[in-house]
Amino acid sequence: MWEASAPSNIALIKYMGKSAEGKNVGVNPSLSLTLPHLRSQVLIQEHAQSDDTWEALDGKMTLSETGKEKFLKHFSFLKEKFGLTNKKFIIRSKNDFPSDCGIASSASSFAALTTCAAQAFGDITGQKISLEEQALLSRYGSGSSCRSFSEGFVEWDGNNSITPLPSTHADLFHQVYIVSSSVKTVSSSQAHQRVATSSLMPGRTERVQLRMNAVKNILKAQKLDWENLYSLVWAEFWDMHALFETSQPPFGYFLPNSLKLIQQARDLWETDGDGPIVTMDAGPNVHFLWRKDQLVSANFFANRNSDIRCFSNMEMP
Ligand code: PMV
Repeated sequence: MWEASAPSNIALIKYMGKSAEGKNVGVNPSLSLTLPHLRSQVLIQEHAQSDDTWEALDGKMTLSETGKEKFLKHFSFLKEKFGLTNKKFIIRSKNDFPSDCGIASSASSFAALTTCAAQAFGDITGQKISLEEQALLSRYGSGSSCRSFSEGFVEWDGNNSITPLPSTHADLFHQVYIVSSSVKTVSSSQAHQRVATSSLMPGRTERVQLRMNAVKNILKAQKLDWENLYSLVWAEFWDMHALFETSQPPFGYFLPNSLKLIQQARDLWETDGDGPIVTMDAGPNVHFLWRKDQLVSANFFANRNSDIRCFSNMEMP
């Protein structure tokens, strides 16, 4: 039996939209922060059945039929890469946070599956592959998962280049408020396809590139320009959600509590001239990043919203 776990990540510059040239090739580069406190765990065991099967590791987690199919398809792809198509396995997995609702469970679950399979197949065949190769393989299962193989900030060019970005500023508190843990009606795979119909898609790559350069400069600098980082990340998540709402037909993820949380953060910035970095993925849940010296504000914010479930790497009140 083989066991592995992998972290999720939150994109500050979003991978949204796939190019026609290959599987999970992003139309633009993206940049994320790895979230080691939000993890998926995978166990793999060889079995005597005629097919690979999946089951929940904790007996609780559910995967939609399409979710299961996607997971098993990626596993078959990995088996093929190692020349192991004749062997059959049972895969058990779980996330320590809700799936399919915009906290990037696909990133951690595909990263964990790829890591576990690389260990198992490496042991069986003697072919050991590097972390970098694992990240590249993981991309075929879920694009965003390729950014979960390093700590801190990671840049992905949308294709075959995944680069950890050295920065002294990765030491941040993260909070994600679970506004809804219901499975999304438009999955991120569907979102990637549908944004191609948005009238805002022309120019998206150029807008992303400008923000990407600016964010990278901020992360590299010794003194952290927090306010500019906030503005860039703010513009980026609204840009992605504007693509959703201008697709044909339009779709969106915001719920009343998403707006309530975002508004509270904006108020904080307006009154104090300081506040958290705010972002949302393809879902209604809201992510905040706080500097370590903002602990009091972060706690105050969490107290004020104690009616909304929150996952964080800071000690919650
Ligand atoms: O990896 P996928 O296909 O589930 O794409 C997820 C993309 C976003 O989470 C919406 C943004 C990102 O860059 O993580």
